[in-house]
Amino acid sequence: MSILTTREWLLVKRPVGIPQRSDYEYREGPVREPGEGEIMVRVLYTAMDPAIRGWMDAGGNYFTPIPLGAPVTAVVLGPVVKSNDPNLPVGTMVSGLGSWSDYAVGPGYFFSPVVEPDQHELVSFLHPLGPVGLTAYYGLFDRAGMKAGDAVLISGATGGVGSLVAQMARLRGASKIVGIAGGPTKCKQAIELFGYDACIDYRAESDLSAAMARELPNGFDVFFENVGGKILEAALDNMAKNARTVVCGMISGYNATEKQPGPGNMWNLLVKTARIEGFLVADCLGTPLAEEMYTAISGWLKEGKLAYKVDVREGLEHIPDTFNLLFSGQHDGKLLVKVADA
Ligand SMILES: NC(=O)c1ccc[n+]([C@@H]2O[C@H](COP(=O)([O-])OP(=O)(O)OC[C@H]3O[C@@H](n4cnc5c(N)ncnc54)[C@H](OP(=O)(O)O)[C@@H]3O)[C@@H](O)[C@H]2O)c1
Repeated sequence: MSILTTREWLLVKRPVGIPQRSDYEYREGPVREPGEGEIMVRVLYTAMDPAIRGWMDAGGNYFTPIPLGAPVTAVVLGPVVKSNDPNLPVGTMVSGLGSWSDYAVGPGYFFSPVVEPDQHELVSFLHPLGPVGLTAYYGLFDRAGMKAGDAVLISGATGGVGSLVAQMARLRGASKIVGIAGGPTKCKQAIELFGYDACIDYRAESDLSAAMARELPNGFDVFFENVGGKILEAALDNMAKNARTVVCGMISGYNATEKQPGPGNMWNLLVKTARIEGFLVADCLGTPLAEEMYTAISGWLKEGKLAYKVDVREGLEHIPDTFNLLFSGQHDGKLLVKVADA
């Protein structure tokens, strides 16, 4: 039997602030054989998800910290090349929890077969038809309970999650959809590609709260929060009565070296009888709701009602630099790394 080799990035130091090259080790070596119930996946694409930054910390976030000396955990997509799991035979295209490597070996239950692989573009399984799409749907409809007529505010407006939230809100009858993004190019894209009614450039506006009041004079009913910090505080000044804020992410603080101060205007929650809550897409995976959400998203894609943008960078060897693009806004669409040709 031939022994395959893999390149992989190991985490060898806990990053302080933005991860540095010296926090990782690049290694090439044999791939271990899958054990009982395990599969081996040839990684074609790996998703650059902001949450990975939290998994690098000693405290992790909602996920076990990546052990020092272990490959960096990431969602990957590719075919099964060896299998000891009868549910995932060789040749099945799967996505699931792998690592920054050429091959991922792990328990079959870490991976799911992609549904209708011939009906959709391959990369869509790491964007609208992957955890990103489910996050948008679950957060907007299930957790925030968005309904027709709601005014919706979305931070990280052109990112993977935000861009889908806006279009889903439109499809379900939102009255106005306002995005928050960094720079004129992203704001233009928000309106022209993702259908926002207006977009606030957080880099250009000196008073974010006033900018939100200008676009949403009656306040928002739903705020889908991806960023945190000053954006969250400004938003809490602009709630309609009974507003719902769902905290999907707080990317502005992921590289912070100190605890971030909370908003100084939490009192507004009482004034507006509003609520704010966090959610995790992982809580709905594998449930009938996830299937329902997947079917709806897949249907919208087939009908051409959902646009999505991917920014695909080549090369496993450049992953540490590519990953850091997430925190500078220099990427344009859901950031993926292409590891091998399909
Ligand atoms: N709760 C869950 O289960 C769950 C699941 C998936 C993702 N998430 C979270 O959802 C959020 C979006 O993820 P994604 O996959 O859509 O990532 P993404 O495609 O990289 O989008 C993130 C967006 O955040 C913006 N951003 C980055 N740093 C910023 C800063 N300092 N201030 C303001 N905006 C900043 C960037 O836009 P600009 O260029 O406009 O700055 C970028 O478009 C993240 O916070 C992620 O952790 C949560």
